[in-house]
Amino acid sequence: MNNLVCKLNSVSVVAITLFVISCQQSPRASGPFENQIDSLLALMTLEEKVGQLTLFTSDNDVTGPTIRENYKDDIKAGRVGAIFNAFGAAYTRKLQEIAVKETRLGIPLLFGYDVIHGHRTIFPMPLAEASSWDLESIEKSARIAADEASAEGLHWTFAPMCDISRDPRWGRIVEGAGEDVYLGSKIAAARVKGFQGNGVGELNSVIACVKHFAAYGAAQAGRDYHTTDMSDRVLREVYLPPYKAAIDAGAETVMTSFNEIDGVPATGNKYLMTDILRKEWNFDGFVVTDYTSIMEMIAHGVAEDSSAAAALAIEAGIDMDMQAGFFNDALVNLVKAGKVKEDLINEAARRILKTKFELGLFDDPYRYSNPEREKETVMKAEYLEASRDVARKSIVLLKNDKQLLPLSKTIKRLAVIGPLANARKEMIGSWSGAGDWKKAITLLEGIKAGVSPETQVLYAKGCNIDDDSTMYFKEAIQIAKQADAILLAVGEGAWMSGEAASRASLDLPGVQQQLVEEIQKIGKPVVLVLMNGRPLTINWIDKTIPAILETWFLGTQAGHAITDVIFGNHNPSGKLPVTFPRSVGQIPIFYSMKNTGRPLDLKNKYTSKYLDESNDPLYPFGFGLSYTTFEYGDISLSGKEITAKDKLVVSCKVTNTGKHAGDEVVQLYVRDKVGSVTRPVMELKGFQKLSFQPGESKNVEFTITDADLSFYRKDMSIGSEPGLFEVFIGGNSRDVKKAEFELK
Ligand code: BGC
Repeated sequence: MNNLVCKLNSVSVVAITLFVISCQQSPRASGPFENQIDSLLALMTLEEKVGQLTLFTSDNDVTGPTIRENYKDDIKAGRVGAIFNAFGAAYTRKLQEIAVKETRLGIPLLFGYDVIHGHRTIFPMPLAEASSWDLESIEKSARIAADEASAEGLHWTFAPMCDISRDPRWGRIVEGAGEDVYLGSKIAAARVKGFQGNGVGELNSVIACVKHFAAYGAAQAGRDYHTTDMSDRVLREVYLPPYKAAIDAGAETVMTSFNEIDGVPATGNKYLMTDILRKEWNFDGFVVTDYTSIMEMIAHGVAEDSSAAAALAIEAGIDMDMQAGFFNDALVNLVKAGKVKEDLINEAARRILKTKFELGLFDDPYRYSNPEREKETVMKAEYLEASRDVARKSIVLLKNDKQLLPLSKTIKRLAVIGPLANARKEMIGSWSGAGDWKKAITLLEGIKAGVSPETQVLYAKGCNIDDDSTMYFKEAIQIAKQADAILLAVGEGAWMSGEAASRASLDLPGVQQQLVEEIQKIGKPVVLVLMNGRPLTINWIDKTIPAILETWFLGTQAGHAITDVIFGNHNPSGKLPVTFPRSVGQIPIFYSMKNTGRPLDLKNKYTSKYLDESNDPLYPFGFGLSYTTFEYGDISLSGKEITAKDKLVVSCKVTNTGKHAGDEVVQLYVRDKVGSVTRPVMELKGFQKLSFQPGESKNVEFTITDADLSFYRKDMSIGSEPGLFEVFIGGNSRDVKKAEFELK
């Protein structure tokens, strides 16, 4: 049989062979494709099985320190089951042909890629999109990304990143949904639904990969790849829920994280990969390592060589080795020496083959590599429009004194100044893989396209993003003096956030702060447009500049989206998914902190505070203004006492008291006043994004159930505890209405 397969060398032969064999009863067969997988596994050598457990990068695009030059030889030799960083219908087809036509069994390859915030049409960075609090739009952006990616031969995206982060020094905070468990979980699920669409195997879907499991976002001191150390309670209560939500939404795969946790690197961590993921959560997809993290267990100091590291990983529950090549190098010998059970290899290969069956690759290995579909799908007008729509919803208005914004489109002279004002490359942010920055719209271009023909638009760069030269100040000051209003675009370069991009300072880099001060001195109305991948410490700006827009990195349509907001075609409704600190010394600072035994009392020295800084953030979680104003009425409760079986209806009248139609994210928070363990001062438990006409009121209702009041109790069982609760409703986590109820 093997000879026959070898001679004919075609996937259809494998398919026929599988069909014949699957007609015989298999003792292992249970779920879909189990018969075929059993049959295939029976044909495979140990080396071929290990090959399926291996993922290598192509030479297209590399995200880590190593690259295998000879990955095509690896494909031919059956040493690799999946390839990443290869996309494009023609390219993926070429590589697939090697696997299908030139290997003994013709098992098709799986193609993965970091499709993080759009594929060709780039959407806002995930942290920006999270600011929209618009789950439908977030799902839609992932859906479009999946459509484009799958049309280019991709089967698998390494997203969503579900790492909670409460440390803006960590550059990868930009890839996630921010600091909150509830919001993070909802967004993680929406992204998975978007990527996987109507199901794995649909031509316009890609499988999702929940990363980085686990607690990568809690790297000490915000330094990337650094140690994570936390109690099991915090791990389970804060960091794990978004991964779990993504898995519950159907995510097919999980990626490990680089960090250690409780002394064990995630990639060798059986507690995480087997006990929690497989046993508690019943995850039945496959687990891939992050990049060379198997190899990195040597540097971590838990494995002395490649064999020890490979054994640790496979025994912990890892199915696929990304890029280290350690499974390839060591597993066969480990099994032959009786040091690793072959069953572990079989299980891992089974999971990976199952995914390939589900994707339909055994029916047609080229089904996703379709040049016509690629041409029709990629960057179509409708997708660009969707990107612009999500982008404007992601903008957060941080300050707007005296209603400086929106500006009039017929303003006579508008100066657009700043190193980010016409910085095309930066617009698509980091991790924009296949996105073409040359197609991005800058702020200057957006403004020019958005103003009336009578408006004169002046432009000066002012300075570079990150050096100390003030030589361009003069020109900027000159045009600022001529203008009726100034748009000042400052912030970070796209490279300053994302992987391996931690910062110890959260100030504006280079001489930008100086530039802002020089421009402000002129005395013209200034709108500061921030572009950045993390919260920045902008206290002086907040005190001094009348209008501030947080625009993050908004993607291909950035300039148009910001222009829509500046001229009032779109009323901003974004809310911060992460707290803005006043200074780095406050970090970690997040809204759901504990009260402590000595809560802040400014009159009492011996309470929890700083000598040289306030406890308050600059902007709280959930904060964001609108061109209109919203008034919140008092909270009504359906009862003052409930039992665990009851539902409590909490409602509040919200009124648009301003002159513009606008959207408001109405937020619900809860506090458990006394527990067997301490509870956060407040926790988000619900939100609704609603539209209001001027003068319109809505009675906004939330239902609280026992699940919303449950937590890990002292004995780590999950459930609620009787006692007093506070409930809050507001437009951010600081300015809220409050009521109380008792759980009997
Ligand atoms: C990153 C992952 C990414 C992988 C593949 C790693 O360096 O941590 O998030 O998916 O590279 O590109």
